[in-house]
Amino acid sequence: MANARFLMAGAIVVALAAPVLAQNLGVIKQRQTIMEGNGKAAKALVGYAKGETPYDAAAVAGLFAEMSSGAAKFGTLFPADSKTGGKTEASPAIWDKKGDWADAVAKFQADTKAAAAAKPATVEAFRAEFGKVMGNCKSCHESFRVKLQ
Ligand code: HEC
Repeated sequence: MANARFLMAGAIVVALAAPVLAQNLGVIKQRQTIMEGNGKAAKALVGYAKGETPYDAAAVAGLFAEMSSGAAKFGTLFPADSKTGGKTEASPAIWDKKGDWADAVAKFQADTKAAAAAKPATVEAFRAEFGKVMGNCKSCHESFRVKLQ
């Protein structure tokens, strides 16, 4: 009886896990969530850079720190079984040009980490860090993200 219940529980776990393993949707969702966070952070930072939002050093430091911790994790979320599925916009170049991909990830990590550590006190100091961080978005997307229709 206990044995049968154990076997049934095992069968259910296998049934639930199988489709996820086939496309690794969990990991795709995780990296998309990190990027959505980048999108929201970037929008807020643009407001400070343009002077539309009064400069707030603590809020900016928090946004850079968030981007930095996301960047630290992002590169680990591209296993071979996550090339397709989950409406991913990840380009095959991520797996085909591993060296270039690793460089792009490392640069984003370094620039967000430096910006977070700088804790810019003035909007002028902030704009310099902002420019360095934001340069990563376009260059990485051009090489490693495909736009879905
Ligand atoms: C090292 C490469 C890299 C950098 C740097 C990068 N991105 Fe991305 N981004 C990607 C990839 C790859 C995807 C597609 C992920 C997927 O769909 O699996 C993506 C997707 C996105 C998405 C769509 C997320 C969704 O909902 O599916 C947004 C928004 C985004 N990035 C914003 C940004 C912003 C803003 C920056 C700069 C602050 C940035 N990205 C920097 C690689 C990068």
